[in-house]
Amino acid sequence: MEYALERFTAEVKAAIAATGRVAPALIETTTPKPNIPADLAFPAFRAAKELRVPPPQLAAELAAAISIPEGSLIGKVEAAGPFLNFSMHPQRLAAAVLAEIAARAEGYGRQPDGAGQTIVVDYSAPNIAKRMHVGHIRSTIIGQSLVNIFRALGYTVVGDNHLGDWGKQFGVVLASIAMYGRPDAVGEEAMALLEAQYARYSGEMKERPDLDEEARRWSLLLEQGDPQARALWQWCVDLTLQAAEKNYNRLGVRFDHAYGESFYEGMLPDMIAETLRTEAAYRDEDGSVVAELDKLPKFIIQRKDGGTVYMTRDIATVEFRLSEFHPSQIIYVVDGRQELHFRQLFAIMRAMGYARDVELVHIPFGVVTTLDGQPLSTKKGNMVYLESLLDEATARALAVIDLKNPDLAEAEKAAVAESVGVGAVVYNDLYQDTKRNITLDWERMLATEGNSATYLQYSHARCRSILRRAVEEGAATAGDATLLTHPAETGLIKHLARLPEALREAGSRYAPFVIADWCYTTAREFGVFFEQCPVLKAESAELRAARLDLVAATAHALKAGLGLLGIRAPERM
Ligand code: ARG
Repeated sequence: MEYALERFTAEVKAAIAATGRVAPALIETTTPKPNIPADLAFPAFRAAKELRVPPPQLAAELAAAISIPEGSLIGKVEAAGPFLNFSMHPQRLAAAVLAEIAARAEGYGRQPDGAGQTIVVDYSAPNIAKRMHVGHIRSTIIGQSLVNIFRALGYTVVGDNHLGDWGKQFGVVLASIAMYGRPDAVGEEAMALLEAQYARYSGEMKERPDLDEEARRWSLLLEQGDPQARALWQWCVDLTLQAAEKNYNRLGVRFDHAYGESFYEGMLPDMIAETLRTEAAYRDEDGSVVAELDKLPKFIIQRKDGGTVYMTRDIATVEFRLSEFHPSQIIYVVDGRQELHFRQLFAIMRAMGYARDVELVHIPFGVVTTLDGQPLSTKKGNMVYLESLLDEATARALAVIDLKNPDLAEAEKAAVAESVGVGAVVYNDLYQDTKRNITLDWERMLATEGNSATYLQYSHARCRSILRRAVEEGAATAGDATLLTHPAETGLIKHLARLPEALREAGSRYAPFVIADWCYTTAREFGVFFEQCPVLKAESAELRAARLDLVAATAHALKAGLGLLGIRAPERM
């Protein structure tokens, strides 16, 4: 099924074609400038040139020749200089849009464009034995939203958490645990203790070569599959994943796989041989395997001691994903500071002939800074970690709700605070271009007015509360949508009609903020409608029923939009 706006566009093109004056290839439409009172325009320039007539003349001729079919979404057609302007039929649009939202409810906006194609999304990817810091938080939130967006576009999406669970540093992790013992704690607290042990060990290692030797020994043991080393490593993996899992659940994040870097260990020798065989890489004088491609700085694939690196595992990961999932795209949601790494990775995959049928995309994102623009850092001690961030957000949200709605039952208050707090954190990552840096400005993040998740959630909850009251008052719904002709009603309906298009744009630009913008405008348009058009106190029972339908549609559509961002929409707040 096509959504109303697509149908409108198709009808406009068909109506122009039916005049027989313009070749179908020349029928292209554009969105008129905001000051033009029309919904779609046909600029007559190209067709007029072809026909050797002045564009205004062609526009006028077409305006006279066009006949609007019975029941069309086209309301009016007018020539304005070289443009042919089309307006929608507000009542038929209202009926069409409310019907399609009612039919799909929270699934409104979904479409099958990507059917038959697979996209792998590589996101979150925390490092084992470390807490998830702001970089991983951004990756987790942006990645999950892209997963939701592409699923809604009909793609088969494979979400893979590429855990940092392998590499030289594990020698130090294991040696430090062997030396100081396993921390007796869980969650982020245990992770913090592990980090401290790691730092202490690394510090002492600088002066004591025997400790350095010991770390190297553990690293080797792990690589050789020594049972004790393996067990200790597994304990670290489990501990980290348990801590992560709790946070993922709070964020509504779910992966299809979490293969992690260690999974690729056995594939690396063949992979390295393949980089040499295809001459994408070469053996350097010192015995290491390196590549120098597309004028990018030279990079290592195998160290001179035979050891492998992050890059080696990423090369094997692409190969594995291609043979396992046959994706049309692999999307990496990773910190902008790894841009060079991905340019090098994509270059070597191309040089090896692997990147022919797949698009490799790096979605970089900006850093999180303090309010005065300083990047957060572990060294400065102002780093923010996921669990404590979500806890703080929830506590602050609870204070806001206590103020706004003190009568809410305690249990519901806690649940709502969780949705609002987590929503504020998620929205802060998504409401603007992901490349931009973000700050943790709680005032703005939890503002009940303005571009915040809280405001959007309040708008949704307000819709739901009107609908509950309507039920209590026994008010009828399923009204006649053609009664909705007030400019505020038409404005809101036209905007609701745009979600499918916003979804498509968000997918093609890898840009969740397009959905965020759509949600924000929806809430604002709803605010205007609510101010100007009484719902429960409408002039007639018929109008009240139609307006209630519009309120229900707004609630469904807003919930759908928020859902794409990974934000919950509580029933009441
Ligand atoms: N674990 C890495 C880090 O924390 C991110 C991994 C991103 N994904 C990838 N395929 N390289 O920096």
